[in-house]
Amino acid sequence: MQYSIEYLSLEVSRLRSLVRYLSADVINNLPITYRTRESFDYQWRDSPDGNWTETRPELKLREPNLVLEYTKLPKDWFPGKRVLDAGCGSGRFSWAMASLGAMVYAVDQSEAGVFHTQRACAEFRGVTVLQHDLTQPVPLEAEFDLVWSHGVLHHTGNTFGAFSNVARLVKPGGHIFMMLYGEPTGRDPGEFAYYAEVEKLRRATCTMSFSERYEFLHRLKGEDVGGWFDAVSPTINDTYSWYEIELWLQQSGFEDIQRTINASSHYVIARRRNNHS
Ligand SMILES: C[S@@+](CC[C@H](N)C(=O)[O-])C[C@H]1O[C@@H](n2cnc3c(N)ncnc32)[C@H](O)[C@@H]1O
Repeated sequence: MQYSIEYLSLEVSRLRSLVRYLSADVINNLPITYRTRESFDYQWRDSPDGNWTETRPELKLREPNLVLEYTKLPKDWFPGKRVLDAGCGSGRFSWAMASLGAMVYAVDQSEAGVFHTQRACAEFRGVTVLQHDLTQPVPLEAEFDLVWSHGVLHHTGNTFGAFSNVARLVKPGGHIFMMLYGEPTGRDPGEFAYYAEVEKLRRATCTMSFSERYEFLHRLKGEDVGGWFDAVSPTINDTYSWYEIELWLQQSGFEDIQRTINASSHYVIARRRNNHS
């Protein structure tokens, strides 16, 4: 029985993966995934998550430490380094990396996200912000010491395509850091309970406007509404096996591939080979 379940879950993983490659060009317009990107724009424009420098000033203390913890890079590595924040949202990590001394280039598809990132980072020279869809080639050169992408690529509908677009911007010897949602493995039974609840809430809220959804989740989850809105409302919320992520990195010329945090999501840093063209 154990081997049957293991085999079936590996098969499901492979099939999900195939469907994602095949649906990458159309997924943003399918009825079950429609309006994922607009959901983030709503979140940054109309919820307290957008205006985080005022609503959550404690992030200015926490996020720089998270950058160090997630990348395992030392604090003195950052000054003067060129960093791309791929999918900056409202800019909490762009701000954090700029505060560590990096020259930050921040990119997001959301107009409201880009607005708040610009506003939050106005105190630093050397921060550039661009509104751009990461599933399209990014008009930048391969000269980044670090490409950072936290919780973004699995929302694009073309995770591999967006990964390829940002991975090529890492200079030889530079790093890529990504946080991508992990496929539930069954090792922690709570994972299945969580994903089942998220899916049920998606179905319960699918015909609501974004503000109705926000209110509904607020009534249900109280102060945790931000995290639940983030999980429930953007319906493109793909999960990946470690096996697949490692393959992408190896095939794209990365080595020293390390998981930096022990969690069901994948927190991974890798270094681009010096001789990779
Ligand atoms: C969960 S938020 C993470 C934001 C930020 N990295 C953070 O951790 O606070 C996901 C972000 O991905 C952005 N995003 C989704 N699809 C995108 C795409 N195709 N191109 C660029 N950004 C995209 C959304 O606009 C949103 O800001």
